Amino acid sequence: MIVLGAGAAGLMCAATAGARGQSVLLLDHNTQAGAKILISGGGRCNFTNTGTTAANFLSANPHFCRSALSRYQPKDFLDLVEKHKIAWHEKTLGQLFCDGSARQIVAMLLAECDAAHVDVRLGVKITDVQKSDHFIVDTSQGAFEAARLVLATGALSIPKMGATGFAYDVARKFGLNIIAPKPGLVPLHAPVAEVPFYSGLAGVSVKAVVRAGAVAFAENILFTHRGLSGPAILQASSYLEPGGTLHLDLAPDVDVATVLKRRKHERPKADCKTIVSEMMPQRLAAAIAPEKIMSQVSAQEMEVLHNGLRHWTLIPPGSEGYAKAEVTVGGIDTAELSSRTMESHSVHGLYAIGEAVDVTGWLGGYNFQWAWASGVAAGEA
Ligand code: FDA
Repeated sequence: MIVLGAGAAGLMCAATAGARGQSVLLLDHNTQAGAKILISGGGRCNFTNTGTTAANFLSANPHFCRSALSRYQPKDFLDLVEKHKIAWHEKTLGQLFCDGSARQIVAMLLAECDAAHVDVRLGVKITDVQKSDHFIVDTSQGAFEAARLVLATGALSIPKMGATGFAYDVARKFGLNIIAPKPGLVPLHAPVAEVPFYSGLAGVSVKAVVRAGAVAFAENILFTHRGLSGPAILQASSYLEPGGTLHLDLAPDVDVATVLKRRKHERPKADCKTIVSEMMPQRLAAAIAPEKIMSQVSAQEMEVLHNGLRHWTLIPPGSEGYAKAEVTVGGIDTAELSSRTMESHSVHGLYAIGEAVDVTGWLGGYNFQWAWASGVAAGEA
């Protein structure tokens, strides 16, 4: 079989199939395997999440990922990590990272490929894919043939690292439907008129609850020179429809109105900004609180402040796009694939795995868990 793409899913699939006695050729146009693994998790690779369930993924068919995720679980990947004596730790919310470097994960996957006699060829340009009896892959190193072809070339995020829409092109060529892709886990822009406000707060991080549609995330947000970023924003960005509204609660753990009323009695001479900064970072407090002492703050102003913080809205006109998006939402339609094997229903022997497929995880190790699980599903098949 031929696996196109030596990223997370392709390496896993190739190692799995090779270990089962298949003759496997793994091709990638990059000269480095697993380039995204190397930069992931700030260089420490958030390689899985112990709480992974189908609810942590976006897909036109939210049930599609269940089968693969249940057959290859976070503990299975952890067993592999431990077999290779890679030290790891849990950060927060079930996110597992290497103690050392993401390089260890790439080295581990390449070692598994090596042990399974996978023929790994990097720096290979793929020029065409055709099918007669077999698949024929034309490359800068000649033509290769196989009965089975796995599309593991990922999606559109971070083109400067070699990301392409190649999997979509091949899928379309074979008549498979693509769910329109869009950047996910991506920083969002503020409307032009509001940019000075956001950029004035650039670098300020605050705990918030951010809601896009029916989904809400309670994590930090970060003000940037162009709008908002930080974990809660990245998470919500994947769910945000074009022109959609983000609803933010910037003081989820405090009843701002009650605190202000109480402080007005307790400390009437205190600056309102000082009181508000008890509830949030000083720079944010300074930007939103009136220039008054507490005794001068009216009940209506308190209400405005309370509502402003608890019911903050943003209609982002755009995002940082694929250049900064950690993932691509959308991709090869899951209706085209078997959820057990990842094989196409219509093109015998054609498989698609990883980010190329319309299964997109939350921030926090879920995307790698999908890459491993879908890779194993196809590799075993
Ligand atoms: P992946 O992108 O890993 O691999 C695709 C491979 O195909 C690449 O090697 C590429 O070179 C190759 N390729 C592409 N086009 C080709 C062509 N035309 N010809 C030949 N080869 C081609 N997830 C997570 O769970 N935890 C984390 O910590 C992070 N951190 C993170 C940080 C950053 C900055 C980014 C951009 C992304 C993450 N992610 C993440 C997401 C995670 O990296 C991503 O979901 C997986 O790498 C997807 O695995 P795939 O194997 O599907 O694609």
